[in-house]
This record gives sequence, structure tokens and C-alpha cells, in this order.
Amino acid sequence: MRKIYPFNAGWLFMSQRAGDDVADTDFVPVTLPHSNALLPVNHFDDAEYQFISTYRKRFRLPRPLDGQRVFIDFAGAMISATVSINGHTFAEHRGGYTPFAYDITDYLHADGENLLTVHLDSTERADIPPFGYVVDYLTFGGIYREAALRYVAPAHIVNARVRPDDPMAQSTTADVDVWLSDATPAGLTLIAQATIDGHTVTVEGVTTAEGTLTLTLPPCAYKRWSPDSPQMYTLDLTLLGADETLDGYAVRFGVRQAVFADDGFYLNGEKLFLRGLNRHQTYPYIGAAAPARLQRKDADIIKYELGCNIVRTSHYPQSKHFLERCDEIGLLVFEEIPGWQHIGDEAWQALSLRDVRAMIERDWNHPSIVLWGVRINESWDNTEFYTRTNALARQLDPTRQTTGVRFWPESEFLEDVYGYNDFTNSVLEPTQTPWLITEFNGHMFPTKTIDGEERQVEHAIRHARIQDRALGMGGVSGAIGWCAFDYNTHKEFGSGDRICYHGVMDIFRLPKYAAYAYASQVSPQQRIVLQAATIWAMGDRSAGGNDPLYIFSNCDEVDVYAGKDHIGRFMPERAEFPYLQHPPFKVTGLGMRWGEEFGDLHVVGYIDGQRVAEQRISCDGQPAQLLLCADDPTLAADGADMTRIVFKIVDRYGNRLPYARHILTFAIEGDAQIIGENPIAAAGGQGAVYVKAGTRAGVIKLTAQTARLPAATVHINIG
Ligand code: GAL
Repeated sequence: MRKIYPFNAGWLFMSQRAGDDVADTDFVPVTLPHSNALLPVNHFDDAEYQFISTYRKRFRLPRPLDGQRVFIDFAGAMISATVSINGHTFAEHRGGYTPFAYDITDYLHADGENLLTVHLDSTERADIPPFGYVVDYLTFGGIYREAALRYVAPAHIVNARVRPDDPMAQSTTADVDVWLSDATPAGLTLIAQATIDGHTVTVEGVTTAEGTLTLTLPPCAYKRWSPDSPQMYTLDLTLLGADETLDGYAVRFGVRQAVFADDGFYLNGEKLFLRGLNRHQTYPYIGAAAPARLQRKDADIIKYELGCNIVRTSHYPQSKHFLERCDEIGLLVFEEIPGWQHIGDEAWQALSLRDVRAMIERDWNHPSIVLWGVRINESWDNTEFYTRTNALARQLDPTRQTTGVRFWPESEFLEDVYGYNDFTNSVLEPTQTPWLITEFNGHMFPTKTIDGEERQVEHAIRHARIQDRALGMGGVSGAIGWCAFDYNTHKEFGSGDRICYHGVMDIFRLPKYAAYAYASQVSPQQRIVLQAATIWAMGDRSAGGNDPLYIFSNCDEVDVYAGKDHIGRFMPERAEFPYLQHPPFKVTGLGMRWGEEFGDLHVVGYIDGQRVAEQRISCDGQPAQLLLCADDPTLAADGADMTRIVFKIVDRYGNRLPYARHILTFAIEGDAQIIGENPIAAAGGQGAVYVKAGTRAGVIKLTAQTARLPAATVHINIG
């Protein structure tokens, strides 16, 4: 029977190429996911992670071979890996975004120690997508996703795909396509079993010489998967030998119909406007080496904190943990192959086609994924190449439409959906259909959490305006803004400090005002949002004052008070935003209060005449508290699990003070590590570090200190 052993602990790492003769003591112990360099938030050089490194792992087999095959599985390593086992070297794996595996059985020492070595080239190799030209993001180095040791019988299941026949029918059959290993003989029994709505269905088939097989599940009444009700099912496959079970393989799937039509996107027959953001997979300090918990948290942030219904995995296949969470919470996904504006030579294109295959074969069972991006982001037309990427995607997965992202509207349309980056600060009339806006804003209006109020408000309004126009423009399926989170980049891009400040949240995933332009679009039944887009100061804007004051909210009405004055009761600004479900409120009449008494801002939100939310912002700009908050109360004691620790310098009502530049010093007690700069300066009155669990159970105490405010402490359980 298949047995998977996580293979993440007990690695040794050296930041240069080392032969087997180099002593273990010259290496440092590490756990996967691993970043080959821990970096500051900004102002570092990409040479700090672009080098060849060596990973080494000594291990004994966790159990006897007993005729099984043993594979080493890597979920992702950046960017090119040469793997050796006990002196045998496999062909180099090129590409950092999709999984790879080697059958190491024939080279193993069954009873003794084994030496696994990975020479990892994390330089920007022009022969591997996305490289060959500049790229506006960083491809941080390291074995940055998990590894596993996989025991399987020679006859085993390689992959499986579930294809419901008619997702819209009350009850539907589903084809289960199964791929078997080359060593699987014809004539073995394969059983598929699933429990649907309390009923267990089972179907049997017999393996064939071709190595593939399709079983058909009988008609079942599936609950359809949707953002509001993300129903998932598990299918268990069992491969039987003459008198033993040879393999077991589980597939998670969902049943839904997703169609981009000429007039918009339809999910399960209902029109759904796609409101989304792009996500890069990188984080401060750790590059892309984020464990499952952080990957899953990003999906939660995009769905729950930002109220999006779709995310684009710009510009490459992302962690399976992220995608699994998108399935579980009902966040739609547009996933694409690695690349950025550049198409390389024939060998490069062959790798890109390999990426199309690897992406689709890894991810075809995720109901959340509704589009395959099979064009290099913003590249020029290439009829021959893109005819091939589209044909391959359609052949591998006839159930999903393809798209490609371009930045000029006359580009050749070989895909099923025209993906267009509309940087006009408006919304272009579609020149093709189906049409999806795949980016907007971004570099046209970079905005930092330390920028002045005017800029931050304008940034938020641009996002709101484009979402509004896109909603109102017939034939636009949705708008996916650039982007969710600020991200590290090369010197050719961004603000000169290696950051593109294009996020509606900062690099720590903490909100700018633009985040509330998204958050406020959710139904108040889900969550009531009320956020005044102001720091409430008299002289931050040009010429002073706060007029007009925008408030992002899904309330029906708001009352606004400045000090003792009732400024008025306001309705959402429908004239400026005719299509948004919940337009921002635009408060005028605040006047210029120089020389007058300046009091606190008080906003009260009403729904159906009932007071449901309020916000107060202090006028005195006094830091009242250092807030410290851990995203998770408990971490696993696996040496890799991490949680984010957010800090904020806030006024007496809990609003962050964006110009507070307090320096925080963290101290930790217990078996865990602080990942981040320490001490660290607040930026925009906020920031974050991470706590990474050790391997001993216990309670971690993390304390942050800063001048003039009481220290703050959080406790995290490890175990
Ligand atoms: C686009 C590109 C993105 C990002 C963005 C910044 O052209 O596709 O990766 O660079 O610009 O606005």
C-alpha cells in the first residue's frame, strides 16, 4: 500500500555548491519549506538569494522496501534542481513552480544510511521560464515547498481526474479517468468509491495494457460547489492485486459548471460578476517559503477580508495549500503558467508547454479553478506557440476554458476568454468576448501605507471606480485588480527599495484604504464594514481639511459627526458609482476647521434604520496602545509551521496612526523563532513578524516593546 512520509525535517543546507566530501558540520540544519536567504522587508539585493546552494539529507528508510518503489517528491524548488541519491545523479529539473519526483529505489541502501543531495540553482537562468528578460517580481530561492518520500507498489495509481457529466442535472454520472504506472499489468481490479449525500457509490473496472482507464460513477445527486456553498467530495480509488491491496489514492473534487459567455461569467447557470485581485506567492523575510498555514491564510484574506470572489495566481502555479483552501472556502481561481512578457527559444517554449501540462495535471480536480492561463503574461503574439499551448490545455482538460493575458486590445485571440490588462484608469469597451479584465491600477498609482491621505484615498477610489465601471459595462466578465498585496521586485520596477507598492494591502497583508473599497462590497449579512478613509488631521491634505471624506461601508446610511457638530446623514454616492452594490459614501460640508475647535470624527452606520456599526477617530494623534495580535493560537511542533504577528500603534479608539514610526523590539521565550527584522520600525503605524515553531511542545511567549507605550505580549501554543 502507498505510504507517504513527509520529508521536510532534518535537511542540511549550505549557500554554495558543495560536494559529498564537505563535512556535515559545515552545513546548517534546516526544515522545508526553506528560503535560501532570510531577507529584510526591502532594500536588499537580489544577488542575496540568486546563487547555487546545496541541500543534503542523510536518512534511513522508514520501513523495509518489500518490493515497493520509493519516490522522492518535491512540491517546488526554485529554479533548477539537480538531485543525487548515494552518488547517482538524475537529470536536472528545470522550473520552480510545479512538482517533480524521482524513483530512487534502485539506488537506495536498504539497511544503511542514504545520502540525498540537491544542488539548487536559484539564479535567473535565461533557459527557464519566466526568465530571459526582466521580470516584475522576485523568484526567491530554496526548496520552498514541501518534500515527501512516497512508497508505492510497482503497480500504482499515478493520477486521477473526476469529470461530472452534467453538473447542472439533478443527478449526474461522473467519469473517473485514472492513470496507472507503467508496471501496472492488465487485468487488475480498480475500485472507485465515494460517499455522496450519505450514499456510498462504488464502481469497479479492470486495468488495461494502455495504462489508463475510465470508470463511470452511477448517477448521483451532488450538491453543486459554489462560493456560498463550497461542497467538496472525496473519491477513493483502490487498486487490487491477486490477494492484496496494491494502492489507495484519494481525489477531492467538486461539481459545478463554470462558463465564460459573451455577456459575462456564469457559475451553475447564474451570472456572477467576478471581483478579484492578483496574488503573488511571496512574503516578507521568507521569500516564497511559506508553510501551509500562511498559504491558506492568504486565501482567507482575499475572500473574507477583501470580499473577492476570484483570485488570479499571477504569474505561475501556486501552492497546493492555497488552492485547497480556495476549494474549501469557495474562492474562484484563474491559474496561469510561469512567464512575464518574454517568450524564449524552442527549448524554452518546450518547458513552457511542460508547465501547461504540469499545472493542469496537478490541479484539474480543483473546482475553484475556472480558467487556465496558457499565454505568457503580457507577451507578444506567437501564433504557433499559443496554438500549441491552447491545444494542449484543451486536450488535457476539455472541461475548462483557456485564457491569456495581454496588454493591447488587438492581440490575436486564440484562447476561449480574452484576458486584458486595462491600465486606462477607466474600462475599455471589450473588443472581443468573453472579456475579462485581468489587471488594472498597479503601477499606474503605487500607494504606500505611509503615503498622505489624499493619495491613499485616490488609490481606493480608483479601485472602486474601475470595479464600478466594469460591473456596468456589458460583456465584461469581471475585473481582477493589480493587486492584493505589495510585493518584492527587481530594481527595474517598484519604488527603488525592491517593493512594488501596488497592493490594496501592504506586504504584511495589512489593509490600505483600497482594501475597504473591496471589503465593503460584501453583503452586510456576511459582515458589516464601516471605514472612514481618513487619518482625521487638519493639515495632511493639500490646503488642509478633510472634504470630501469617503467612507467605505455596506451600510444603507451613515451619520457623521465632527466633534460636537452633526455634519449630516449621508447616503451612498450612487451618482459617482452607479453600479457598485455598495458605493462609497462621500461626505462633504466638513468645512475648514483651522482656528476652530477640532474634535473627534464619529461615524455611525445604519441598516434598515437600525444602528449597526460605528467608528471614532481621535483628533489628538496620541498613540494610546501598542497592539499585538497572533493570527493563530496554536502551531504544529514540526519546525516549519508559522503564524503572522501583527503590530499596530493605535489611537484610543484602535485606529492605527499611519505616521507612527515606533521601533519595536521583540523577545521570545520557548522553542520557537522570530522570523523578521528585530528590532523593526513601524511603517504606516503597523507591521508584522512571524513566529516559526520549533519541535518541542509548549507555550511560546512573545513580547514587543517600544518607547512610551506599555509592552504587549501574545502567547502561542505549540503542540
Ligand atoms: C503588469 C504586469 C504585472 C505587474 C503590473 C504592475 O503589466 O502584468 O506583473 O508588473 O503590470 O502594474
